[in-house]
Amino acid sequence: MSFPTVRMRRLRKTTAMRDMLNHIDLQPSNLIYPIFVDEGIKKTVAIESMPGYSRVPINLVAEEGKLALTQGVKGVLLFGIPTKKDEAGTSAFAKNGVIQKAIEKLKKTYGEEIVVIGDVCLCEYMSHGHCGLVKDGEVLNDPTLDVLGKVAVSQAEAGADIVAPSAMMDGQVVAIREALDDAGFEQVPIMAYSAKYASGFYGPFREAAESTPKFGNRKSYQMNQGSQEEALREMELDLNEGADMIMVKPALAYLDIIGLAKANFNVPIVAYNVSGEYSMVKAAAQNGWIDEKTVIREILTGIKRAGADLIITYFAKYIKSWLNST
Ligand code: PBG
Repeated sequence: MSFPTVRMRRLRKTTAMRDMLNHIDLQPSNLIYPIFVDEGIKKTVAIESMPGYSRVPINLVAEEGKLALTQGVKGVLLFGIPTKKDEAGTSAFAKNGVIQKAIEKLKKTYGEEIVVIGDVCLCEYMSHGHCGLVKDGEVLNDPTLDVLGKVAVSQAEAGADIVAPSAMMDGQVVAIREALDDAGFEQVPIMAYSAKYASGFYGPFREAAESTPKFGNRKSYQMNQGSQEEALREMELDLNEGADMIMVKPALAYLDIIGLAKANFNVPIVAYNVSGEYSMVKAAAQNGWIDEKTVIREILTGIKRAGADLIITYFAKYIKSWLNST
């Protein structure tokens, strides 16, 4: 009978040994906390499909910022829910728009302590719920670019530290880069949602942000699930157009894409751990089927191990207590 000479278990013996050999360091400062700001409410309103998460009124947005900062999180990603939607997305670039006011408030309160990121999209601001201008049932590409440029500039004017285009229109990064530069915001970086797949995991978000399309779906502009090549091409294009960071979204069903992004591009890689991924964990935990803290740590570790430098995650809200507990 022969015994193993190589014993992997030698290095797994104690917690101290395991900690010493751990490669993945989860830091709250590498997490980004999404905030839904609702123009039409006075008090926070719970989001039913995202247990533990709420929409907040503009007057409570500073409180949310504080929550992030006290967790050691530096970045917040803002989504606006306007009271007025139309077919031109005008509330998305209004000077007094919901997201502009929220950005202003956060920057006025916390200055350089916080990194405020504006989501640049139109679906929450459009009566039809699509991410671009629509004519005869078709989502138009080129006419939408101009509007996205306006949205980005209006967010930069309000004080946004980073803009994050998520509409998946071709040429949106360069259009936004030019619009920002023309307006004197050449120092405002672009975090591009580059490999954004058409996904069933966005369901809870669409309820939260009231952005479900009224007709059709997003498959003519968001990516096809069955391709790695297309993701590489999207990321390459966005970098050529001037993106400073690239994003893969969702995260868990696309860990291979995160790995490819890391292997191929020498820029910060961002992963979006989306609403459906959050709600699945919450639902199972509420039923007592999984241990929430263990699973959250495991998920975030996995996304980082795949190659993400930054993770946008709804779990950022209470991350400090979770990271430090066993
Ligand atoms: C589009 C946008 C979406 C999400 C972020 N930005 C929804 C969509 O594309 O339908 C989803 C994020 C999530 O599910 O957590 N503005």
